[in-house]
Amino acid sequence: MPRFYVPRRIVFGKGSARHMASFVHGKTMLITGRRTWAAIEDYVNEYVRNYTLHIYERSTPTGEPSEADVERLAAAMRETEPETLLAIGGGSVIDSVKAAWVFYEHPEITWKEVYAGKIPPLRSKARLVAVETTSGTGTGISPAGVVTGRDHVKRGVAHEELIPDAAVYDVNFTVSMSRETAIYSGMDALTHALEAHTSRIDNPPADTLAAEAVKIVLESIESSAEGDEEARERMHTANMMAAMAFSNARLGICHAVAHQIGGRFNVPHGLINGVLLPYSVLFNREATEKYDALERYLGLEKGTLHSVLLNLNEALGIPTDLQFLGEKLMEMLPTIAEGSAASSLMKVNPRQAGAKEIEDFLRMAWDGIR
Ligand SMILES: [Fe+2]
Repeated sequence: MPRFYVPRRIVFGKGSARHMASFVHGKTMLITGRRTWAAIEDYVNEYVRNYTLHIYERSTPTGEPSEADVERLAAAMRETEPETLLAIGGGSVIDSVKAAWVFYEHPEITWKEVYAGKIPPLRSKARLVAVETTSGTGTGISPAGVVTGRDHVKRGVAHEELIPDAAVYDVNFTVSMSRETAIYSGMDALTHALEAHTSRIDNPPADTLAAEAVKIVLESIESSAEGDEEARERMHTANMMAAMAFSNARLGICHAVAHQIGGRFNVPHGLINGVLLPYSVLFNREATEKYDALERYLGLEKGTLHSVLLNLNEALGIPTDLQFLGEKLMEMLPTIAEGSAASSLMKVNPRQAGAKEIEDFLRMAWDGIR
């Protein structure tokens, strides 16, 4: 059954942080990263005054929280007993808060249950306000988070209970975003939009938002990487729209594979998605007409989307094939393909594919096309 679930309150646009005060109630725990905090402390203090600050320290170099990070954060929540969780950050901070929130409200729950999506009702202790400081994960909108397991595999944690109560998309929070983060998070947003648009879940509101988000990212990501403020604002809105789309129409093969590769090879999530994206278009094309329709919407010639994406990667300094990961990738191909095939995202990918076809997809992305 098509559905459209998003946070109850979403504010966006430059200066929208002024609404933040009306979202926080009772004892507030503000969770953020050290570098982000240095850049936004004064701005936050203009609107929110009473809070307990918790600086989130991550232990993984690529950003996604580990199970231990989440458990430490849940312990800090139990000590502070917040009624509002104000999470300000990129994916790692907000995803950590989402997962830790589950353990805060239900200390007896196991990781196995969490990964299986068996999450009981939340909000008997706290509500979640999410403020994204990068423009790509969409975690301020989505019911999902990513956690790196003790076996180094990234796993999605997803449940509608994890949709934040309120989300703030104010470009003034992205001031600490480096060029690299602007590119990688932007490519993640582009992958969210494209995969949501073409997924097997037909969801007109999600599809429409996704198509427009693809358009905005293609027009704005290069200037955003250069630090153009208006382009960054457009990217922040596109990120939000892509998240509304993928939260309701899900994703596909890029994310199924990216979750397998990311943790094992320590590659940023948006980077690996960006590399895979042009190949996913080629791989999926035969199974759906949605790429043709999207090309018409974008004003592109039929059959050219994959080369537009490859050119974009080249312009942004993103590898145009998988060889940057080294021969180890080829050795691990069967494991990665099997893990990807087991992802529930493959059920909604336009082309139905098992481990063998996913191996072919990875070989195509390894060889590259030019
Ligand atoms: Fe993503």
